[in-house]
Amino acid sequence: MSLSLSADRPTVPDEADNGVWLECIECGETYAPFEAVRYTCDECDGLLEVRYADLPTFDDFEGHGVWRYAPALPLEEGVTIQEGATPLYEVPRLEESVGVEALRIKHEGMNPTGSFKDRGMTVGTAVAKELGVGRLACASTGNTSAALAAYGTRGGMETLVLLPAGKVAAGKVAQASLHGARILEVDGNFDACLDIVQDLASRGEVYLLNSLNPFRLEGQKTIGLEILEAFQADYDAFPDRIVLPVGNAGNTSALYKAFRELVQAGALEPEEVPKLTGVQAEGAAPMVEAIENDADEVRRWDDVETRATAIRIGNPVNAPKALPGIRETGGTAISVSDEEITDAQRDLAREGIGVEPASAASVAGLRKLRAEGIVDDDERVACLTTGHLLKDPDAAAAAGGDPEPVPADTDGVLAHLEE
Ligand SMILES: Cc1ncc(COP(=O)(O)O)c(C=O)c1O
Ligand SMILES: [Zn+2]
Repeated sequence: MSLSLSADRPTVPDEADNGVWLECIECGETYAPFEAVRYTCDECDGLLEVRYADLPTFDDFEGHGVWRYAPALPLEEGVTIQEGATPLYEVPRLEESVGVEALRIKHEGMNPTGSFKDRGMTVGTAVAKELGVGRLACASTGNTSAALAAYGTRGGMETLVLLPAGKVAAGKVAQASLHGARILEVDGNFDACLDIVQDLASRGEVYLLNSLNPFRLEGQKTIGLEILEAFQADYDAFPDRIVLPVGNAGNTSALYKAFRELVQAGALEPEEVPKLTGVQAEGAAPMVEAIENDADEVRRWDDVETRATAIRIGNPVNAPKALPGIRETGGTAISVSDEEITDAQRDLAREGIGVEPASAASVAGLRKLRAEGIVDDDERVACLTTGHLLKDPDAAAAAGGDPEPVPADTDGVLAHLEE
């Protein structure tokens, strides 16, 4: 089975509940959505997707934020802290220096906990309530743990997070802690944390809210829907390309799914679908390797390293959903160095947009693809910036200038300014 941009509508299985069901992307097995806890296919261990009997068009959306898109989601309402409806900034100087027809920055750092993870959690925690599970858990490079802690407590549920010791930015640990998550620091990288939390979930100890959970990706589809609606309003056209940082490839999968569903609904032509373009850090680039080698599977990288700790991931669990997304939309994937990431973080900061390092990877990747001639100068592009500057204050301080000590009197300050 392949995830393609086809207008074919699925047959609704008996397991559907209110027109919603889960389907394995590998073998097509179908499951009831809310009866039992299940993250992967019982038959073949393949990834699951949420499927719908009825798919909405743009005319069906009303309201504000993630829940504007309720007709495209598995529930009518979620555990909400007013997530979504993030800005799509103009960046005239950056647009000119990169050299494209239009460049817009979709700043997901403007969500309630400062990253796109909130869009998935508003849906994921609501499904957890529907299933009646107790303790919620995730492995995280930081942002998922912050969002899980906030949405979990808001929904009245207990939360447990597993973090790679010493590799999570300070703002994120602070958030998880203050929102009341129990934080376990694992002596290993993110991928080891995810292995453990998947084991805990399969033993029934916790409800898993990593992006392996198909319901989370439903919320993340709304990033793509917002970008399409905003481009339509501003340019009377959809973007040619969406460039995004890649870790577990959840967003890549979610945006592709949003576009596939619009094509199925007749709201988008296959040739109008933006080219999904993934960017990874050089020290953690298994998806880029798979795209470059035209491989069907991604090789797990055991040793990963990058300053962009949010995407310090060697085993992107959503690769089977994301690889077709990049290929079928005519996109590509590229890796960038930590220096290129920091330069892009500074470029965005000069436009007044504060992002964490992983987020700046999208802009760094676009600049590189433009320089290599892979992106054309007549393209209209949206870059996704996934997390806020304040998430990683140490990285921001290191990328910025140093404070200058001065004496506590005006003449002394003036003398210093004239130096
Ligand atoms: C700031 C930031 N950017 C990007 C990612 C990667 O996202 P995805 O797993 O959707 O590829 C993450 C999370 O892992 C993140 O926290
Ligand atoms: Zn299966």
